[in-house]
Amino acid sequence: MPLKSFLSIKRKANLKIGLIPTMGALHEGHLILIRNSLSICDVTVVSIFVNPTQFNNAEDFKKYPKTLSEDIELLENEGVDLLFNPDNSEMYQQPSQLNFQFERIGSILEGKFRPGHFSGVGLVVSKLFNIIRPHVAFFGQKDLQQVAVIKKLNEELLFGLEIQTIATVREANGLALSSRNKRLSKSHKALAPILYKTMQEAKTKLLSGESIEKTISSSKKSILSQGSSIKLEYFEIVDSNELTPVKEISEHKEISICVAAHFGEVRLIDNLFLFSR
Ligand code: PAF
Repeated sequence: MPLKSFLSIKRKANLKIGLIPTMGALHEGHLILIRNSLSICDVTVVSIFVNPTQFNNAEDFKKYPKTLSEDIELLENEGVDLLFNPDNSEMYQQPSQLNFQFERIGSILEGKFRPGHFSGVGLVVSKLFNIIRPHVAFFGQKDLQQVAVIKKLNEELLFGLEIQTIATVREANGLALSSRNKRLSKSHKALAPILYKTMQEAKTKLLSGESIEKTISSSKKSILSQGSSIKLEYFEIVDSNELTPVKEISEHKEISICVAAHFGEVRLIDNLFLFSR
């Protein structure tokens, strides 16, 4: 049965549809999103599509890990109702003429270092929302700015979805799970937990009254001291919803520490809330 007819029957039967958009190379973090959907939705759809328009680096797109048969096995084990795995011609029937401009929220942090990235995310997520028409969509908190951008998209384009954000899943050493970890060399994999460790130290410093400026400066030094193969892009203390730098720490605000760094060829991002939610 075609996807749209299957979902339309479910919608008519008043069943709640959950969507987990992914680019595949699934890991435990994705599985937690899926389990959340399975627990609150009647129908769980997972999409796997490595979206070319959100990559600002052709090599990164080419090397993005692809593990479709393992992914399918994981989805079957979890009891996912439907996998949507379109090819490029289905998602982009013609080269896109659309360009999403997320103004302030899309121009800082990731937006500054990955020009065009959020336009591609906005485009593909809008297509997925239109094709699947879910009631709830699930995203990981590791991509904090992506979540903020998608919430704006949902609000401004009146998709009317519920957007659920699920906490980052980490390895025992603190490394945030990411499909990109599969591309880390052994030595970079051993170095990468420095991001979480430094964010935790920064959190302790900020909560004990150290200035934002001093904390950022010592955190950057501590990451860079780990080796010349780490290229730090940013280490910022920001408003968790607007992603703009904060000038002072107050427990009445939602504040996050955000970091991005290259370990060799692989770019990792992570973030930590200053006050637990
Ligand atoms: O977070 C991701 O994996 C991607 O950015 C998403 C949301 C699936 C869009 O391609």
